[in-house]
Amino acid sequence: MDGNGRWAKQRQRPRTLGHRAGARAVRTIVEHCLERGIPALTLFAFSSENWNRPEDEVGALMRLFLRVLESEVEELTRRQVHLRFIGERARFPEALRRRMAAAEAIHHNAPRLVLTLAAGYGGRADIAAAARRLAERVQAGTLCPEQIDESTLGQAMSLADLPPPDLFIRTGGERRISNFLLWQLAYTELWFTDVLWPDVDAALLDAALADYARRERRFGLLPGQCETAAVESR
Ligand code: IPE
Ligand code: MG
Repeated sequence: MDGNGRWAKQRQRPRTLGHRAGARAVRTIVEHCLERGIPALTLFAFSSENWNRPEDEVGALMRLFLRVLESEVEELTRRQVHLRFIGERARFPEALRRRMAAAEAIHHNAPRLVLTLAAGYGGRADIAAAARRLAERVQAGTLCPEQIDESTLGQAMSLADLPPPDLFIRTGGERRISNFLLWQLAYTELWFTDVLWPDVDAALLDAALADYARRERRFGLLPGQCETAAVESR
């Protein structure tokens, strides 16, 4: 979700206003995912590197997260959206961590949308944490080094309970992944737009989906071999 700061700058307003507009765009996009029947959406809200931004911006973002959780969780629950978080949350303020835990603890019988917020997230840290978890199991004697392969490592990573992402969308003009889901994106289709995150709307998401629908996903195979590959990659 990139471009909040520039969106505000275009309007000669403080960056925090851009973040607030970004939060409104999240609501629009979640709504549209529900309408389109998209079962999983993962939003990169705050990277492990974002901690290095000026203290007042980090503080404003933390307050915004807290406010959004306070105001949105009830409605999300009513709409059968299962909210959860990935990333290192130890540095988040206590009140925020409590809210996150409370939101995640809500039980959903049949969620219409799994909405994961990546907060304090870094793709490399995700891989390192997975490696550490497996190392601990080896040390405890419950796993042999020979059992460490793509499958066991992948299972120890964030989002292991979901199919790999089909489509990655980056707003704000940069053509890079910026340490998002490095492992999980191996065969994901990438889609970039110059549109700034607060300006993202249903029509833009539909444009990305239409582009995605035209692509041929081959998973390293030849045309025609791919239908089974798509199923097996799940
Ligand atoms: C993304 O918008 C939101 C967060 C990282 C929290 P930016 O804040 O990166 O916006 P730009 O890139 O400065 O426009
Ligand atoms: Mg940015």
